[in-house]
Amino acid sequence: MTEIRETIFIDGKAIGFMAGQTIMDAALSARVYIPHLCHYPGLAPSGNCRLCVVEADSRTVAACTTQARDGQQISNNTAELNAARKAITQMLFIEGNHICPSCEKSGNCKLQAMGYYLGMLEEHFPQFNPHRELDASHPAVFLDRGRCILCGLCVRASREVDKKDVFAIAGRGADAHLIVNTGSGKLGDSHLDVHDLAANICPVGAIMFKERGYVTPIGERIYDRQIISDVAFDEHVPEQKGDERR
Ligand code: SF4
Ligand code: FES
Repeated sequence: MTEIRETIFIDGKAIGFMAGQTIMDAALSARVYIPHLCHYPGLAPSGNCRLCVVEADSRTVAACTTQARDGQQISNNTAELNAARKAITQMLFIEGNHICPSCEKSGNCKLQAMGYYLGMLEEHFPQFNPHRELDASHPAVFLDRGRCILCGLCVRASREVDKKDVFAIAGRGADAHLIVNTGSGKLGDSHLDVHDLAANICPVGAIMFKERGYVTPIGERIYDRQIISDVAFDEHVPEQKGDERR
């Protein structure tokens, strides 16, 4: 992937792309934001969250898993697509315990930032109030499954970058849940280290560090200062992997 040879059109804007790039990567390279929660630069795309769904040549596709093709006409920032994204975001909120004022991730949380970006003013759907296991067995990290949105980022980070395979998603559909790949199923029996990408990549407050709170005051956190689209453009630069934006 070395030279720009071909062009796609997103909401009428011509965007050059390199052979092999996905619609998502081409868009982010051109600073065109396609909402996403489970895409992360450098990790294999999974198509889990469906926030990035666009219309490409009249077909509905996930931008993160679909390769750009020369001449493709793509609709992204439309009222209809953004309404569907807002509904997905609302469902993610009610499926878990996303009580922002009581969560240390508030202000650094991509789900919360997505809600703001899409103009979400209420949860709309009835709360699930799930009771899912909280794993506090690790000395430095806790896993609150009640906040997990099953984006799979920790799974892919652990497998592809950390080479540890600490996490996996078991079950399908409504039964899908995050598991820890140890005999006991406990995080404390895994080789997860605080420096692992998997320990730092969670977009919500499901994987958090113990004994670390309010390091950055409320009001000065990532999404207190920047909207999620601008953060995504910065994240798209691979050199910035490793900073607080995780
Ligand atoms: Fe995604 Fe976090 Fe759940 Fe892992 S724990 S699947 S990173 S939401
Ligand atoms: Fe494409 Fe989640 S970013 S499905």
